Formats: sequence, structure tokens, C-alpha cells
Amino acid sequence: MKITVVGTGYVGLVTGTCLAETGNEVICVDIDAEKVKQMQSGIVPIYEPHLDVIFDRNIKAGRLTFTTSLDEGLDHGEIIFLALPTPEDEDGSADLRYVLGVSEEIGKKIKSYKVIVDKSTVPVGTAEKVRATIAKNASCDFDVVSNPEFLREGFAVDDFLKPERIVVGSSSEKATALMQKLYKPFVRSGNPIIIMDEKSAELTKYASNSFLATKITFMNEIANYCEAVGADVDKVRVGMGTDSRIGKRFLFPGIGYGGSCFPKDVKALQKAGRDSNYEFKILDSVIRVNEGQKIILLPKIDAHFKGDLKGKKIAIWGLAFKPETDDIREAPSLYLMKGLLERGASLQVFDPEAMPNIQKRFGNTLDYASGMYEALDGADALLICTEWSIFRTPNLVKVKQLLQQPVIFDGRNLYDTNDMQEAGFNYVSIGRTEIKA
Ligand code: UDX
Repeated sequence: MKITVVGTGYVGLVTGTCLAETGNEVICVDIDAEKVKQMQSGIVPIYEPHLDVIFDRNIKAGRLTFTTSLDEGLDHGEIIFLALPTPEDEDGSADLRYVLGVSEEIGKKIKSYKVIVDKSTVPVGTAEKVRATIAKNASCDFDVVSNPEFLREGFAVDDFLKPERIVVGSSSEKATALMQKLYKPFVRSGNPIIIMDEKSAELTKYASNSFLATKITFMNEIANYCEAVGADVDKVRVGMGTDSRIGKRFLFPGIGYGGSCFPKDVKALQKAGRDSNYEFKILDSVIRVNEGQKIILLPKIDAHFKGDLKGKKIAIWGLAFKPETDDIREAPSLYLMKGLLERGASLQVFDPEAMPNIQKRFGNTLDYASGMYEALDGADALLICTEWSIFRTPNLVKVKQLLQQPVIFDGRNLYDTNDMQEAGFNYVSIGRTEIKA
């Protein structure tokens, strides 16, 4: 099939590349000429495991091309995916400027039947707005469907190629049939393509992300309470997670959720609720708890250094909002680093992939280490913000030798508390007993 993807952010790029992989002819459109040039020469602009291999393969096969020309894109595709940014507005709502701007152009330019697919996470009612915007100028037949993307950064390719489910909001039989044809190769294992109305599809995405953010936040509160009463959240987590109604996943407490989706989507749903005179009280709490959770280690660090961090050197492992990505959007590390810098500490940081992005934002206010052990050299404590696999089994003897003091603040509960006790560390984690060296 002939497919056009407008917007080559995480979602657009993965969508375009994976659709080319099943034999479709895909054109990706982006207004950023520099980025388009880069992609044309085979460079993937983001770090996403496995994407480079299929990107390269499909470019070479001629199935995946890039252009800055929306006209070219609109001539090509029978299905036009909108994978445009929906940034957070000042009031928390999703800004539809880009989605509606491109819709306006689509209305003016299409010459034959097209299915326009909202792939971006958009508020309930957007498909209707897109439809109305296109209809103002359209001289031919078209349909608008909502097809929210559930991919996780770091697993995006896998999530796209083997989705647990595909949600399509469509009220047109013709458009539904085309979407089913397009997605058939991805659901060979029998996973469902769930067809519903556009509004329900739009809400499914927000509801899913908000639910997951709530699940994590609930566990974070349980963890905080565990500390208050001397219980161990690891044990509580396992006890709870083995109840199949609850499930094992997304119960890991830590220094809060971050990234491009959860924070933005939870706020957008809260705001959308308000606009419809519905107050999501649960989401209000989730946002509040998560804000506090991101900096929950600061008072503990303060307490350890008796309120005086001036001139102290803190090593930080992990800056990305989660492992397997270079994305630092809403990463807890940002908030912790800000707090520590304000207290006069100096920071020696390391992340396997996110250093360039951090460097762009923090410039020379940080010391960038060449490796995880280099970051420890002469530091007064180690703070862990992201659970990259390489941090899970460090050489503890080496860690202890390199640090001035054997002190670890672990925002991701990477280590067994008994092991840390044996190794002679001061070890502070989330929802578990503090270990004194
Ligand atoms: C998420 C959704 O999973 C995905 O379906 C949606 O399309 C986009 O948003 P992503 O933001 O890539 O994907 O990351 P995810 O792996 O879901 O993690 C989100 C945040 O929750 C991270 O900050 C992570 O550290 C945190 N998290 C996750 C926890 O704190 N505890 C957990 O148990 C799980």
C-alpha cells in the first residue's frame, strides 16, 4: 500500500519504518530540512534499539523515503498518518496547532480519496476537528480515523511489529477495511484489531497512560508508607503482583514517572476533564504525588550531609527518564540535579545514551564522566536515577574504593539491601529500610 507519514518524531519515524518493513511504500514528511537530509543519508535521528537496522534495510530497498514537501506526501499516500507533536499548552491541555495546521493543508491539497489517521495522542474530539478542518476546503472524499500509538520508548520497534492490540476509531467501513488490511501482517499471532468510534479510541490512549501512571504512583505512595512503618516495599510488591487481578508489571516504586507521554497525557486528561466540568480527583493526586516523588531523595541527601552540600561532589548514574532511551524529557534526574546544584554541590554524571541531550541543557554546569566508574572518582556519594542494566551488577569493591565515602542513594531500588549491608555501604533506597555502614 502507499503510505505517507507526516512528522518524524518517535512515533512517526517508528510507524513509517515499520510499515515499510511489511512491504508498503512509505514517504515520511517533515518540515525540518536538516533532519530530512540526515534521514535521506541513512542516519536515524533518535536512539531506539533495532530501529537502525530496519531503517537502513528499507531505505536501501527503496520502500522508505523522506521529503520536506507535504504536496509530494499527499500525492503519494492513500493513507496519511499524522504523527505530529501535541505539546503541552500552558494550561496543561494538548496544543493542536500542528495537527490542525496540517489538516488545513490536506483539505486544500488532496485530489483523491484519502484516509487521514490521527496517530498522535490527541484529546477526545480531535478527529471531529480534523474532519471539519479538512472539509472546509476538500474537493474530494476522505475519512478521518483515530489510531492511537501505544509504543514504549526503548521497545518501540518491537511494540509496533508485535502489538498486543491495535485500536482503530473509525465510523467509515471503507476506512476501517483499509486499516485492517494495513495492520493484518502485524497481528498474525491473533492479537486483536479493536474497532470503535473515534472518541472512544482517543480516550483509550489517555485512559491507558493515566491508569499506568496511577498504578506506579499508587506503588510510590505504598513505598513511602513502607518507610514510615518499617515494611519492605519489595516484599509488598511481590505479594501484590502475584494476584493476577493486579499483575506484576508497573508496580516498581522509584523516583517517579517521567518521559514524554505519562506527564503530558495525565495533565491533558485532567484539563480535558475540567473543560467538560469533570474534575479527575485521582489524576490531581497522581500529578501531585509524582512531583514530590521526583525529589523525594533530596531531603534524605540533605539529612546525610547535615544540610551542607556546599563543595560536596555527587556522582550520578543514569540521566534518561528510563533505560534504553536517550530521552530526558521530564526525567527525575533533571529535578534532582537542579536541587543539588542549588545546594552548592558539584555533579559528576554518567549515562550510556543521554549525555549529549543533558549537555545541551546543562552545558558546563556539570562534569561529564567518560564511564560509570569515572563518575565515582572522588565523589562523596553516588545517586542513581535510571536503572540501566550496566548499573545492576557493579564491582562494589571498586565503587567503594573510588567514592570518598561509601554512600549510595538509589532512586530505582537496584540492589538487595542485605548485599549492601554486607558490602559496607550507607544505602538509601525507596520504600525499604535504610542501611547504615
Ligand atoms: C509510555 C507507555 O508505556 C506507552 O504505552 C505510551 O504509548 C507512551 O508512554 P514510555 O513513556 O516510553 O511509554 O515509557 P514506560 O516504559 O511506559 O515508562 C514510563 C515511566 O514510568 C518511566 O519514567 C518509568 O521509569 C516509570 N515506571 C515504569 C516506574 O516508575 N515504575 C514502573 O513500574 C514502570
